[in-house]
Amino acid sequence: MRTVWGLSPVMMPSLPQLLLLLLGTTCQLGLAMPSEERHRLRNQVVEMFDHAYKNYMDHAYPADELMPLTCRGRVRGLEPSRGDVDDALGKFSLTLIDSLDTLALLNKTAEFEAAVRKVLTDVRLDNDVVVSVFETNIRVLGGLLGGHSMAVLLREGGRHMLWYQDQLLHMAKDLGLRLLPAFNTSSGLPYPRVNLRHGVQGPATRTGTETDTCTACAGTIILEFAALSRFTGDPVFEEHARRALDFLWEKRQRNSNLVGTTINIHSGEWVRRDSGVGAGIDSYYEYLLKAYILLGDDLFLQRFNIHYASIMKYISQPPLLLDVHIHKPLMPARTWMDSLLAFFPGCR
Ligand SMILES: *[C@@H]1O[C@H](CO)[C@@H](O)[C@H](O)[C@H]1NC(C)=O
Ligand SMILES: *[C@@H]1O[C@H](CO)[C@@H](O)[C@H](O)[C@H]1NC(C)=O
Repeated sequence: MRTVWGLSPVMMPSLPQLLLLLLGTTCQLGLAMPSEERHRLRNQVVEMFDHAYKNYMDHAYPADELMPLTCRGRVRGLEPSRGDVDDALGKFSLTLIDSLDTLALLNKTAEFEAAVRKVLTDVRLDNDVVVSVFETNIRVLGGLLGGHSMAVLLREGGRHMLWYQDQLLHMAKDLGLRLLPAFNTSSGLPYPRVNLRHGVQGPATRTGTETDTCTACAGTIILEFAALSRFTGDPVFEEHARRALDFLWEKRQRNSNLVGTTINIHSGEWVRRDSGVGAGIDSYYEYLLKAYILLGDDLFLQRFNIHYASIMKYISQPPLLLDVHIHKPLMPARTWMDSLLAFFPGCR
């Protein structure tokens, strides 16, 4: 089950190759399952995707999300605020962009082609909206780059997307430049939010006033930013993502090799010193491992392995994964688990 760590990356895999690789290595349970059962589950997944995608397109598009009970689009500002959750909504047809790579993976080529055309004609990125840097990175920048990657693959196949001229990549770069101002802090850790049109300019744009961010928020940037840099040849994105990761690594608690849950982006002090593998930290670990797989840089694997050993030593209390304090890792910080940590056992 642990072969993925020892993988020797001969070449940098493309994003779709990476996706398949990750699916292959994290879903090894599938091998033990009878093939009828696999087919039944596979068809069920496709059916669920079709249901969600069709209803989004029919009832919500171009809004960011479908509201499943009223079956209407959720437009930010027109519905009662749900707080931080709404920071994912940038009036950029979030669900459509987020679905591009899935359409291609599920071999829905005609739908993929139509969806790319919709993104190119309908989506604007210069909205006067404050968005979460983390959510916009993983879902919109990641969606555009995954879509670009798939579009290039199909174009090379010679039968689809022959009209495609890297427009999704140009949009991705435009979006990357809109996220960059968030990284203008003395630590290099990004502000958690940015205004898509105005960047980070203080209270007038409701940005630039935060002091803290979560570890996952700062540590879940490298895959998209490195891919953007490698696709465009502009190193600035990857440099910013690496700087933020280097800073988090430097700030790990040196005795326990654990990181806290929230950190001050100006002073670099831990604000919440509890540590787990769920909400607030989860994808920091995920991205360290995947950065190694995508980029082939041993540094990321070494860091992952050191954190992993600490997690197994202190946080893993079979059958539970429980938060501890980074300075006193034998002291539990809580007695329950959150849903987001469910990915962790599959990471091995
Ligand atoms: C993908 O779909 C096409 C028809 O649209 C079909 O010919 C092809 O066999 C499918 N590929 C796979 C791997 O299922
Ligand atoms: C970074 O922030 C400083 C103020 O803290 C500002 O003067 C400068 O223009 C900003 N730079 C960029 C590239 O946004």
